[in-house]
Amino acid sequence: MRRLQERILRDGRVLSSTVLKVDSFLNHQIDPELMKEMGETFAHRFREKGITKVVTLESSGIAPAAMTALELGVPAVFARKRKSLTLADDLYSAEVYSYTKQERNQISISRDFLSSGDQVLLIDDFLANGQAVLGLSEIVKQADATLAGVGIVIEKGFQDGGRMLREKGIHIESLAIIDSLSDQKIRFQKEDVTV
Ligand code: G4P
Repeated sequence: MRRLQERILRDGRVLSSTVLKVDSFLNHQIDPELMKEMGETFAHRFREKGITKVVTLESSGIAPAAMTALELGVPAVFARKRKSLTLADDLYSAEVYSYTKQERNQISISRDFLSSGDQVLLIDDFLANGQAVLGLSEIVKQADATLAGVGIVIEKGFQDGGRMLREKGIHIESLAIIDSLSDQKIRFQKEDVTV
């Protein structure tokens, strides 16, 4: 998505050869116009999949997931990272290990909001090692729902998640794929110049 690439180039800060800071429009302050366009783009790319629920993980996935759900006319559900007051029996849950943050999170979704027959579109802000997507897809499996696809705002193509998930046959659409962050420069994957 060209507008996203332009924004990443304008406002993204390379913190290291593996970490990109995009706090000014995605991870802290949110640009609603840009989120709206992302939602329209994801909805367009997954329109034929009969999506019934958009699912994400708190917190930075919520804005793009909500915009996508709005466009598709379905609810958005976010998995919580904190312990819920609800009884564990009422929850689907999975463990997610973040290599980036070196922390383990128990993620969960109430059984009230996901069920068999749901066609699920997962949305997340970053794809690095793919652990969040794996954890969310485990929850989709527990609900006996179908994982119809995954929409990612920024995929770090130099990390393993995208390849690992595509090898499992998962349909992933990333709005921007970064090839490299070395030498303080943001380089996008060459063929990644579509809408
Ligand atoms: P993975 O799910 O693909 O394995 O990714 P990983 O565990 O490495 O990422 C964990 C957290 O770090 C996620 O946020 C993810 O969005 C974020 N992250 C990964 N790479 C980058 C990066 O280059 N830049 C930024 N800004 N974030 C990155 P989270 O813990 O879920 O936080 P949040 O959703 O509450 O913001």
